[in-house]
Amino acid sequence: MELTKLFSSAKIGNVRIKNRIVRSATWLAGADEVGYVTDDLIETYQKLGEGGIGLIISGYIGVHEHGSGNYRMTRLYNESYKVGQKKLVSTIHDTSDSKIAAQIAHTGSNIIREGYELVGPSPIKVPRSIKLVRELSINEIQEVIKAFIKTGTYAYECGYDMIQLHGAHGYLLSDFLSPYTNKRNDEYGGYIENRVKIIEDIYHGLRDKLGKKFPIIIKLNTHDNLKNGLTLEEGKEIIKSVVALGLDAIEPSTGRTDPKFTDNKSFPAVVTKNPEEENYFSHIARELKPLMNNCALILMGGIRNPLAAERFLDEEIADFISFSRPFLYEPDLAKRWESGNLDSAYCTSCNACFGTVLKGKIYCPVKCKQEKKSINN
Ligand SMILES: Cc1cc2nc3c(=O)[nH]c(=O)nc-3n(C[C@H](O)[C@H](O)[C@H](O)COP(=O)(O)O)c2cc1C
Ligand code: SF4
Repeated sequence: MELTKLFSSAKIGNVRIKNRIVRSATWLAGADEVGYVTDDLIETYQKLGEGGIGLIISGYIGVHEHGSGNYRMTRLYNESYKVGQKKLVSTIHDTSDSKIAAQIAHTGSNIIREGYELVGPSPIKVPRSIKLVRELSINEIQEVIKAFIKTGTYAYECGYDMIQLHGAHGYLLSDFLSPYTNKRNDEYGGYIENRVKIIEDIYHGLRDKLGKKFPIIIKLNTHDNLKNGLTLEEGKEIIKSVVALGLDAIEPSTGRTDPKFTDNKSFPAVVTKNPEEENYFSHIARELKPLMNNCALILMGGIRNPLAAERFLDEEIADFISFSRPFLYEPDLAKRWESGNLDSAYCTSCNACFGTVLKGKIYCPVKCKQEKKSINN
C-alpha cells in the first residue's frame, strides 16, 4: 500500500498544505519563564519543518497573563512577545514549506504552576487545588474574549498561516462547554447554545478583525467522561454549531489533562501498549465526520502506523491526521515515511516525556536511552 493520500496536498480554508500530516499542538515548555520564545525553541520548530510536516500547530500560546499558568508556555498578549513569535514563524517559512498555526489558549482552572489563580465559568472543586475555582464575572468573560481576539490578531501579524482556538482538555474554553464545570445561568451557561457562546463571540471578533480568508480552526472536546459532564450527544451538537459558524477545521478531542480528575481514564494523550489500542479516537471521528460538511476534520489520538493513517484518509473519516508524541521522538518522521520506510512511529506512547518538564524543555527519555545505548555498543 502506498501513502498516496497521506502525501497528497489539501486545503484548510484558503491555505494549501503540502501533505495531510499535522503536528498536533504540543506544549514543549521551551519558552523562558515569562513566555518569550527562545532560540532553542525556534531550533526545535525548525527541525519539525525540515522533517516534512505539512502543518505544524504550535504548543498552546497564552492569551492573557492570568491564562498562562503552565511552565514555560509561550505567550502573546503584548507587543513585546511579537518579536520572538515572528522569528519562529519566519524560520519555519524560510527553511521549509510547512505551514504553521498558532494555538491560542487560556489555561483557566487547569493550572499546574504556583502563583496563578484558577478561574472558570463556575466555582467548582478541581483535584489540583484546595481552593474553589473562581467564577468569572460577565465583564471578565468579555475581557477573555477580547484577549483571544487580540492574541489571534497578533498571531496573524506575526505571519502564522492560521489560528487554532484551544477548546479542549479542561482549559478555559472547554470548561465553558461542559455542564460539569459550567453551572452558570446567564447567557454563557445552561443550554448548549449558551455554553458555546464564548467560542462564537471570539470567532466573530476574530473574523471582524481578520476577514474571511484567514483560516480559524479549533481543537474541541466532544465529551469529557465526567459524571454529569459533556456527553458525546451534546458534543455532536457543539460540532454542528461550530461548523455552522464557519470554522475551517476541527480537531476533535476529549478529556482533561489533570489525570486525577477522571481517574486517569480520560487523559488526552493516552498510554497505549499494543497496536490494538492505537487510533483511539477514530471510532468517534467516524461518527463526527458526517456532521462536518466542508469543514476539515483533523484526526488525532494514538496514531502510529502510516498505513492506518492512509486508511483513515481513504475511508474519508478524516481530512488530516495529527500526531504529537511521535514528533518528540522523531521530528523527521514525515520524511522517513515519505522516503518509503513505513515502520510505525518509534514513540511507544509511554508518556515518560511528561516527567521531563520540570527540568526544562520537554524531551523523549526513551529516545535518549536508545541513543546512549547505541553509543556504548
Ligand atoms: C508533551 C505534550 C504536550 C501537549 N501539549 C498540548 C497543547 O499545547 N495543546 C493541545 O491541544 N494538546 C496538547 N497535547 C495533546 C496532543 O496534542 C495530542 O492531542 C495527544 O497527545 C494525542 O496525540 P498523540 O497520541 O499523537 O500524542 C500535548 C501532548 C503532549 C504529549
Ligand atoms: S517518552 Fe518518548 S516514547 Fe514515551 S510517549 Fe513520550 S515521546 Fe513517546
